[in-house]
Amino acid sequence: MVCFINYMMDDSQLIEIAKTHGTPVYVYDGDLIVNRCKTFLDAFKGFPAKVKCCYAVKANTNLTILKIIKNMGYGADIVSLGELDAVLTAGFSREDIVYTSNSKSRSELQAAVDAKINITVGNTTEIDYLADAGGDKIAFRVNPDVDAKTHPKISTSLMGSKFGLHIEQNLALCAVEKALERKLKVVGIHCHIGSNVKEMSGFIQAAEKMIDFAVKIKSLYNVELDFIDLGGGLGVKYKDEQVTTAKEFANSYVDIVSTAIEKLGYKPVFWFEPGRYIVAESGVLLTAVNSVKKTPTKTFVNVDTGFNSLIRPVMYDAYHHIRSLNVAGMLECDIAGNLCESGDILGRDRVIGKVGEGDILAVENAGAYGYSMSSNYNSKPKPPEVLVRGDKIDLIRVGEKIPELYLRQVMPKDLI
Ligand code: LLP
Repeated sequence: MVCFINYMMDDSQLIEIAKTHGTPVYVYDGDLIVNRCKTFLDAFKGFPAKVKCCYAVKANTNLTILKIIKNMGYGADIVSLGELDAVLTAGFSREDIVYTSNSKSRSELQAAVDAKINITVGNTTEIDYLADAGGDKIAFRVNPDVDAKTHPKISTSLMGSKFGLHIEQNLALCAVEKALERKLKVVGIHCHIGSNVKEMSGFIQAAEKMIDFAVKIKSLYNVELDFIDLGGGLGVKYKDEQVTTAKEFANSYVDIVSTAIEKLGYKPVFWFEPGRYIVAESGVLLTAVNSVKKTPTKTFVNVDTGFNSLIRPVMYDAYHHIRSLNVAGMLECDIAGNLCESGDILGRDRVIGKVGEGDILAVENAGAYGYSMSSNYNSKPKPPEVLVRGDKIDLIRVGEKIPELYLRQVMPKDLI
């Protein structure tokens, strides 16, 4: 198996980090994050409209990483008040933050209005919440009913999806009408068709439908949008799959956007929300081998973490390349996590070096939806995070300690 490693961290550095900080540990190449931020932005040079890129914070919310991405000129796509707090702490400007969630409470919307950020709503009840909260502008998450051709759990724009106001049955149109009745300025429309999308067809179909919708609301209600947000979703290479490059991604929109500007008679800003593309390849999860066990059918390499640290293999059957650092030989095996679940396998039918106790394995492409989806299942503390920039190594999150897992529990007095 070919290994696609784009980061510049070398194996001796990774082994040193594992020794210093223990395992499991997440390590990120800060230079690669900067590089991905730049490549994505540069891809839009010469684009027919102004472009704003908002990093989808859910992919990796570490404050240091947020700061790096903010410093590269990005805004932030957030989904919760927790993420709002994180991006404000990291220094993102309020006008560069967009809050999208399929289900917001009155109080969440009040907080978002008070914070003076951009808000998209994906149901008509939230129009009232937003107006009642004193908001004066609104954007809509629209469902264009497009198949992103990705894993079903990360497809978000199918007819049956919970996300967005469907263009179908004029649901999105009625929402615009309602917002106008409530004296809200309709400033944007937004869609996100899915994640880890490898080919452009879904993105293009969605863009066309969004632009038709923008034309319709201009002609019916004379609404001129500040922005059309086409979401995130650009996939990365985890194995040997064909992916779209950032340049191909941007180029594919050029004609549609040029035509859109003619049809609309004004120039909205086009927003994009890459998450995975920015951080996935920069991250590696280091885990140590506890033991190697032969069974009648296969060999298991038992490691010191599991889907508590990286849930993607279990949740989406996702492939993450796994390699042993500085260990020669060849071992055919499954890499088994240490959680009490049969499904807790980080990699099936792999070939790695002939590892034994204490050897370090690198689980690749773990920078996106790795730590941010980690949990304390089986009462496992979350791992530390380390940032590498050239020779510079910084701890950017201290690992949890076991007693911290119970800090917030309160036992009734009669049971103490
Ligand atoms: N914008 C919105 C509104 C989103 O919902 C998402 C991702 C993004 C942008 C960023 O998408 P990206 O560029 O990262 O593909 N946990 C899953 C991915 C879930 C993505 C959810 N929304 C995984 O590990 O594959």
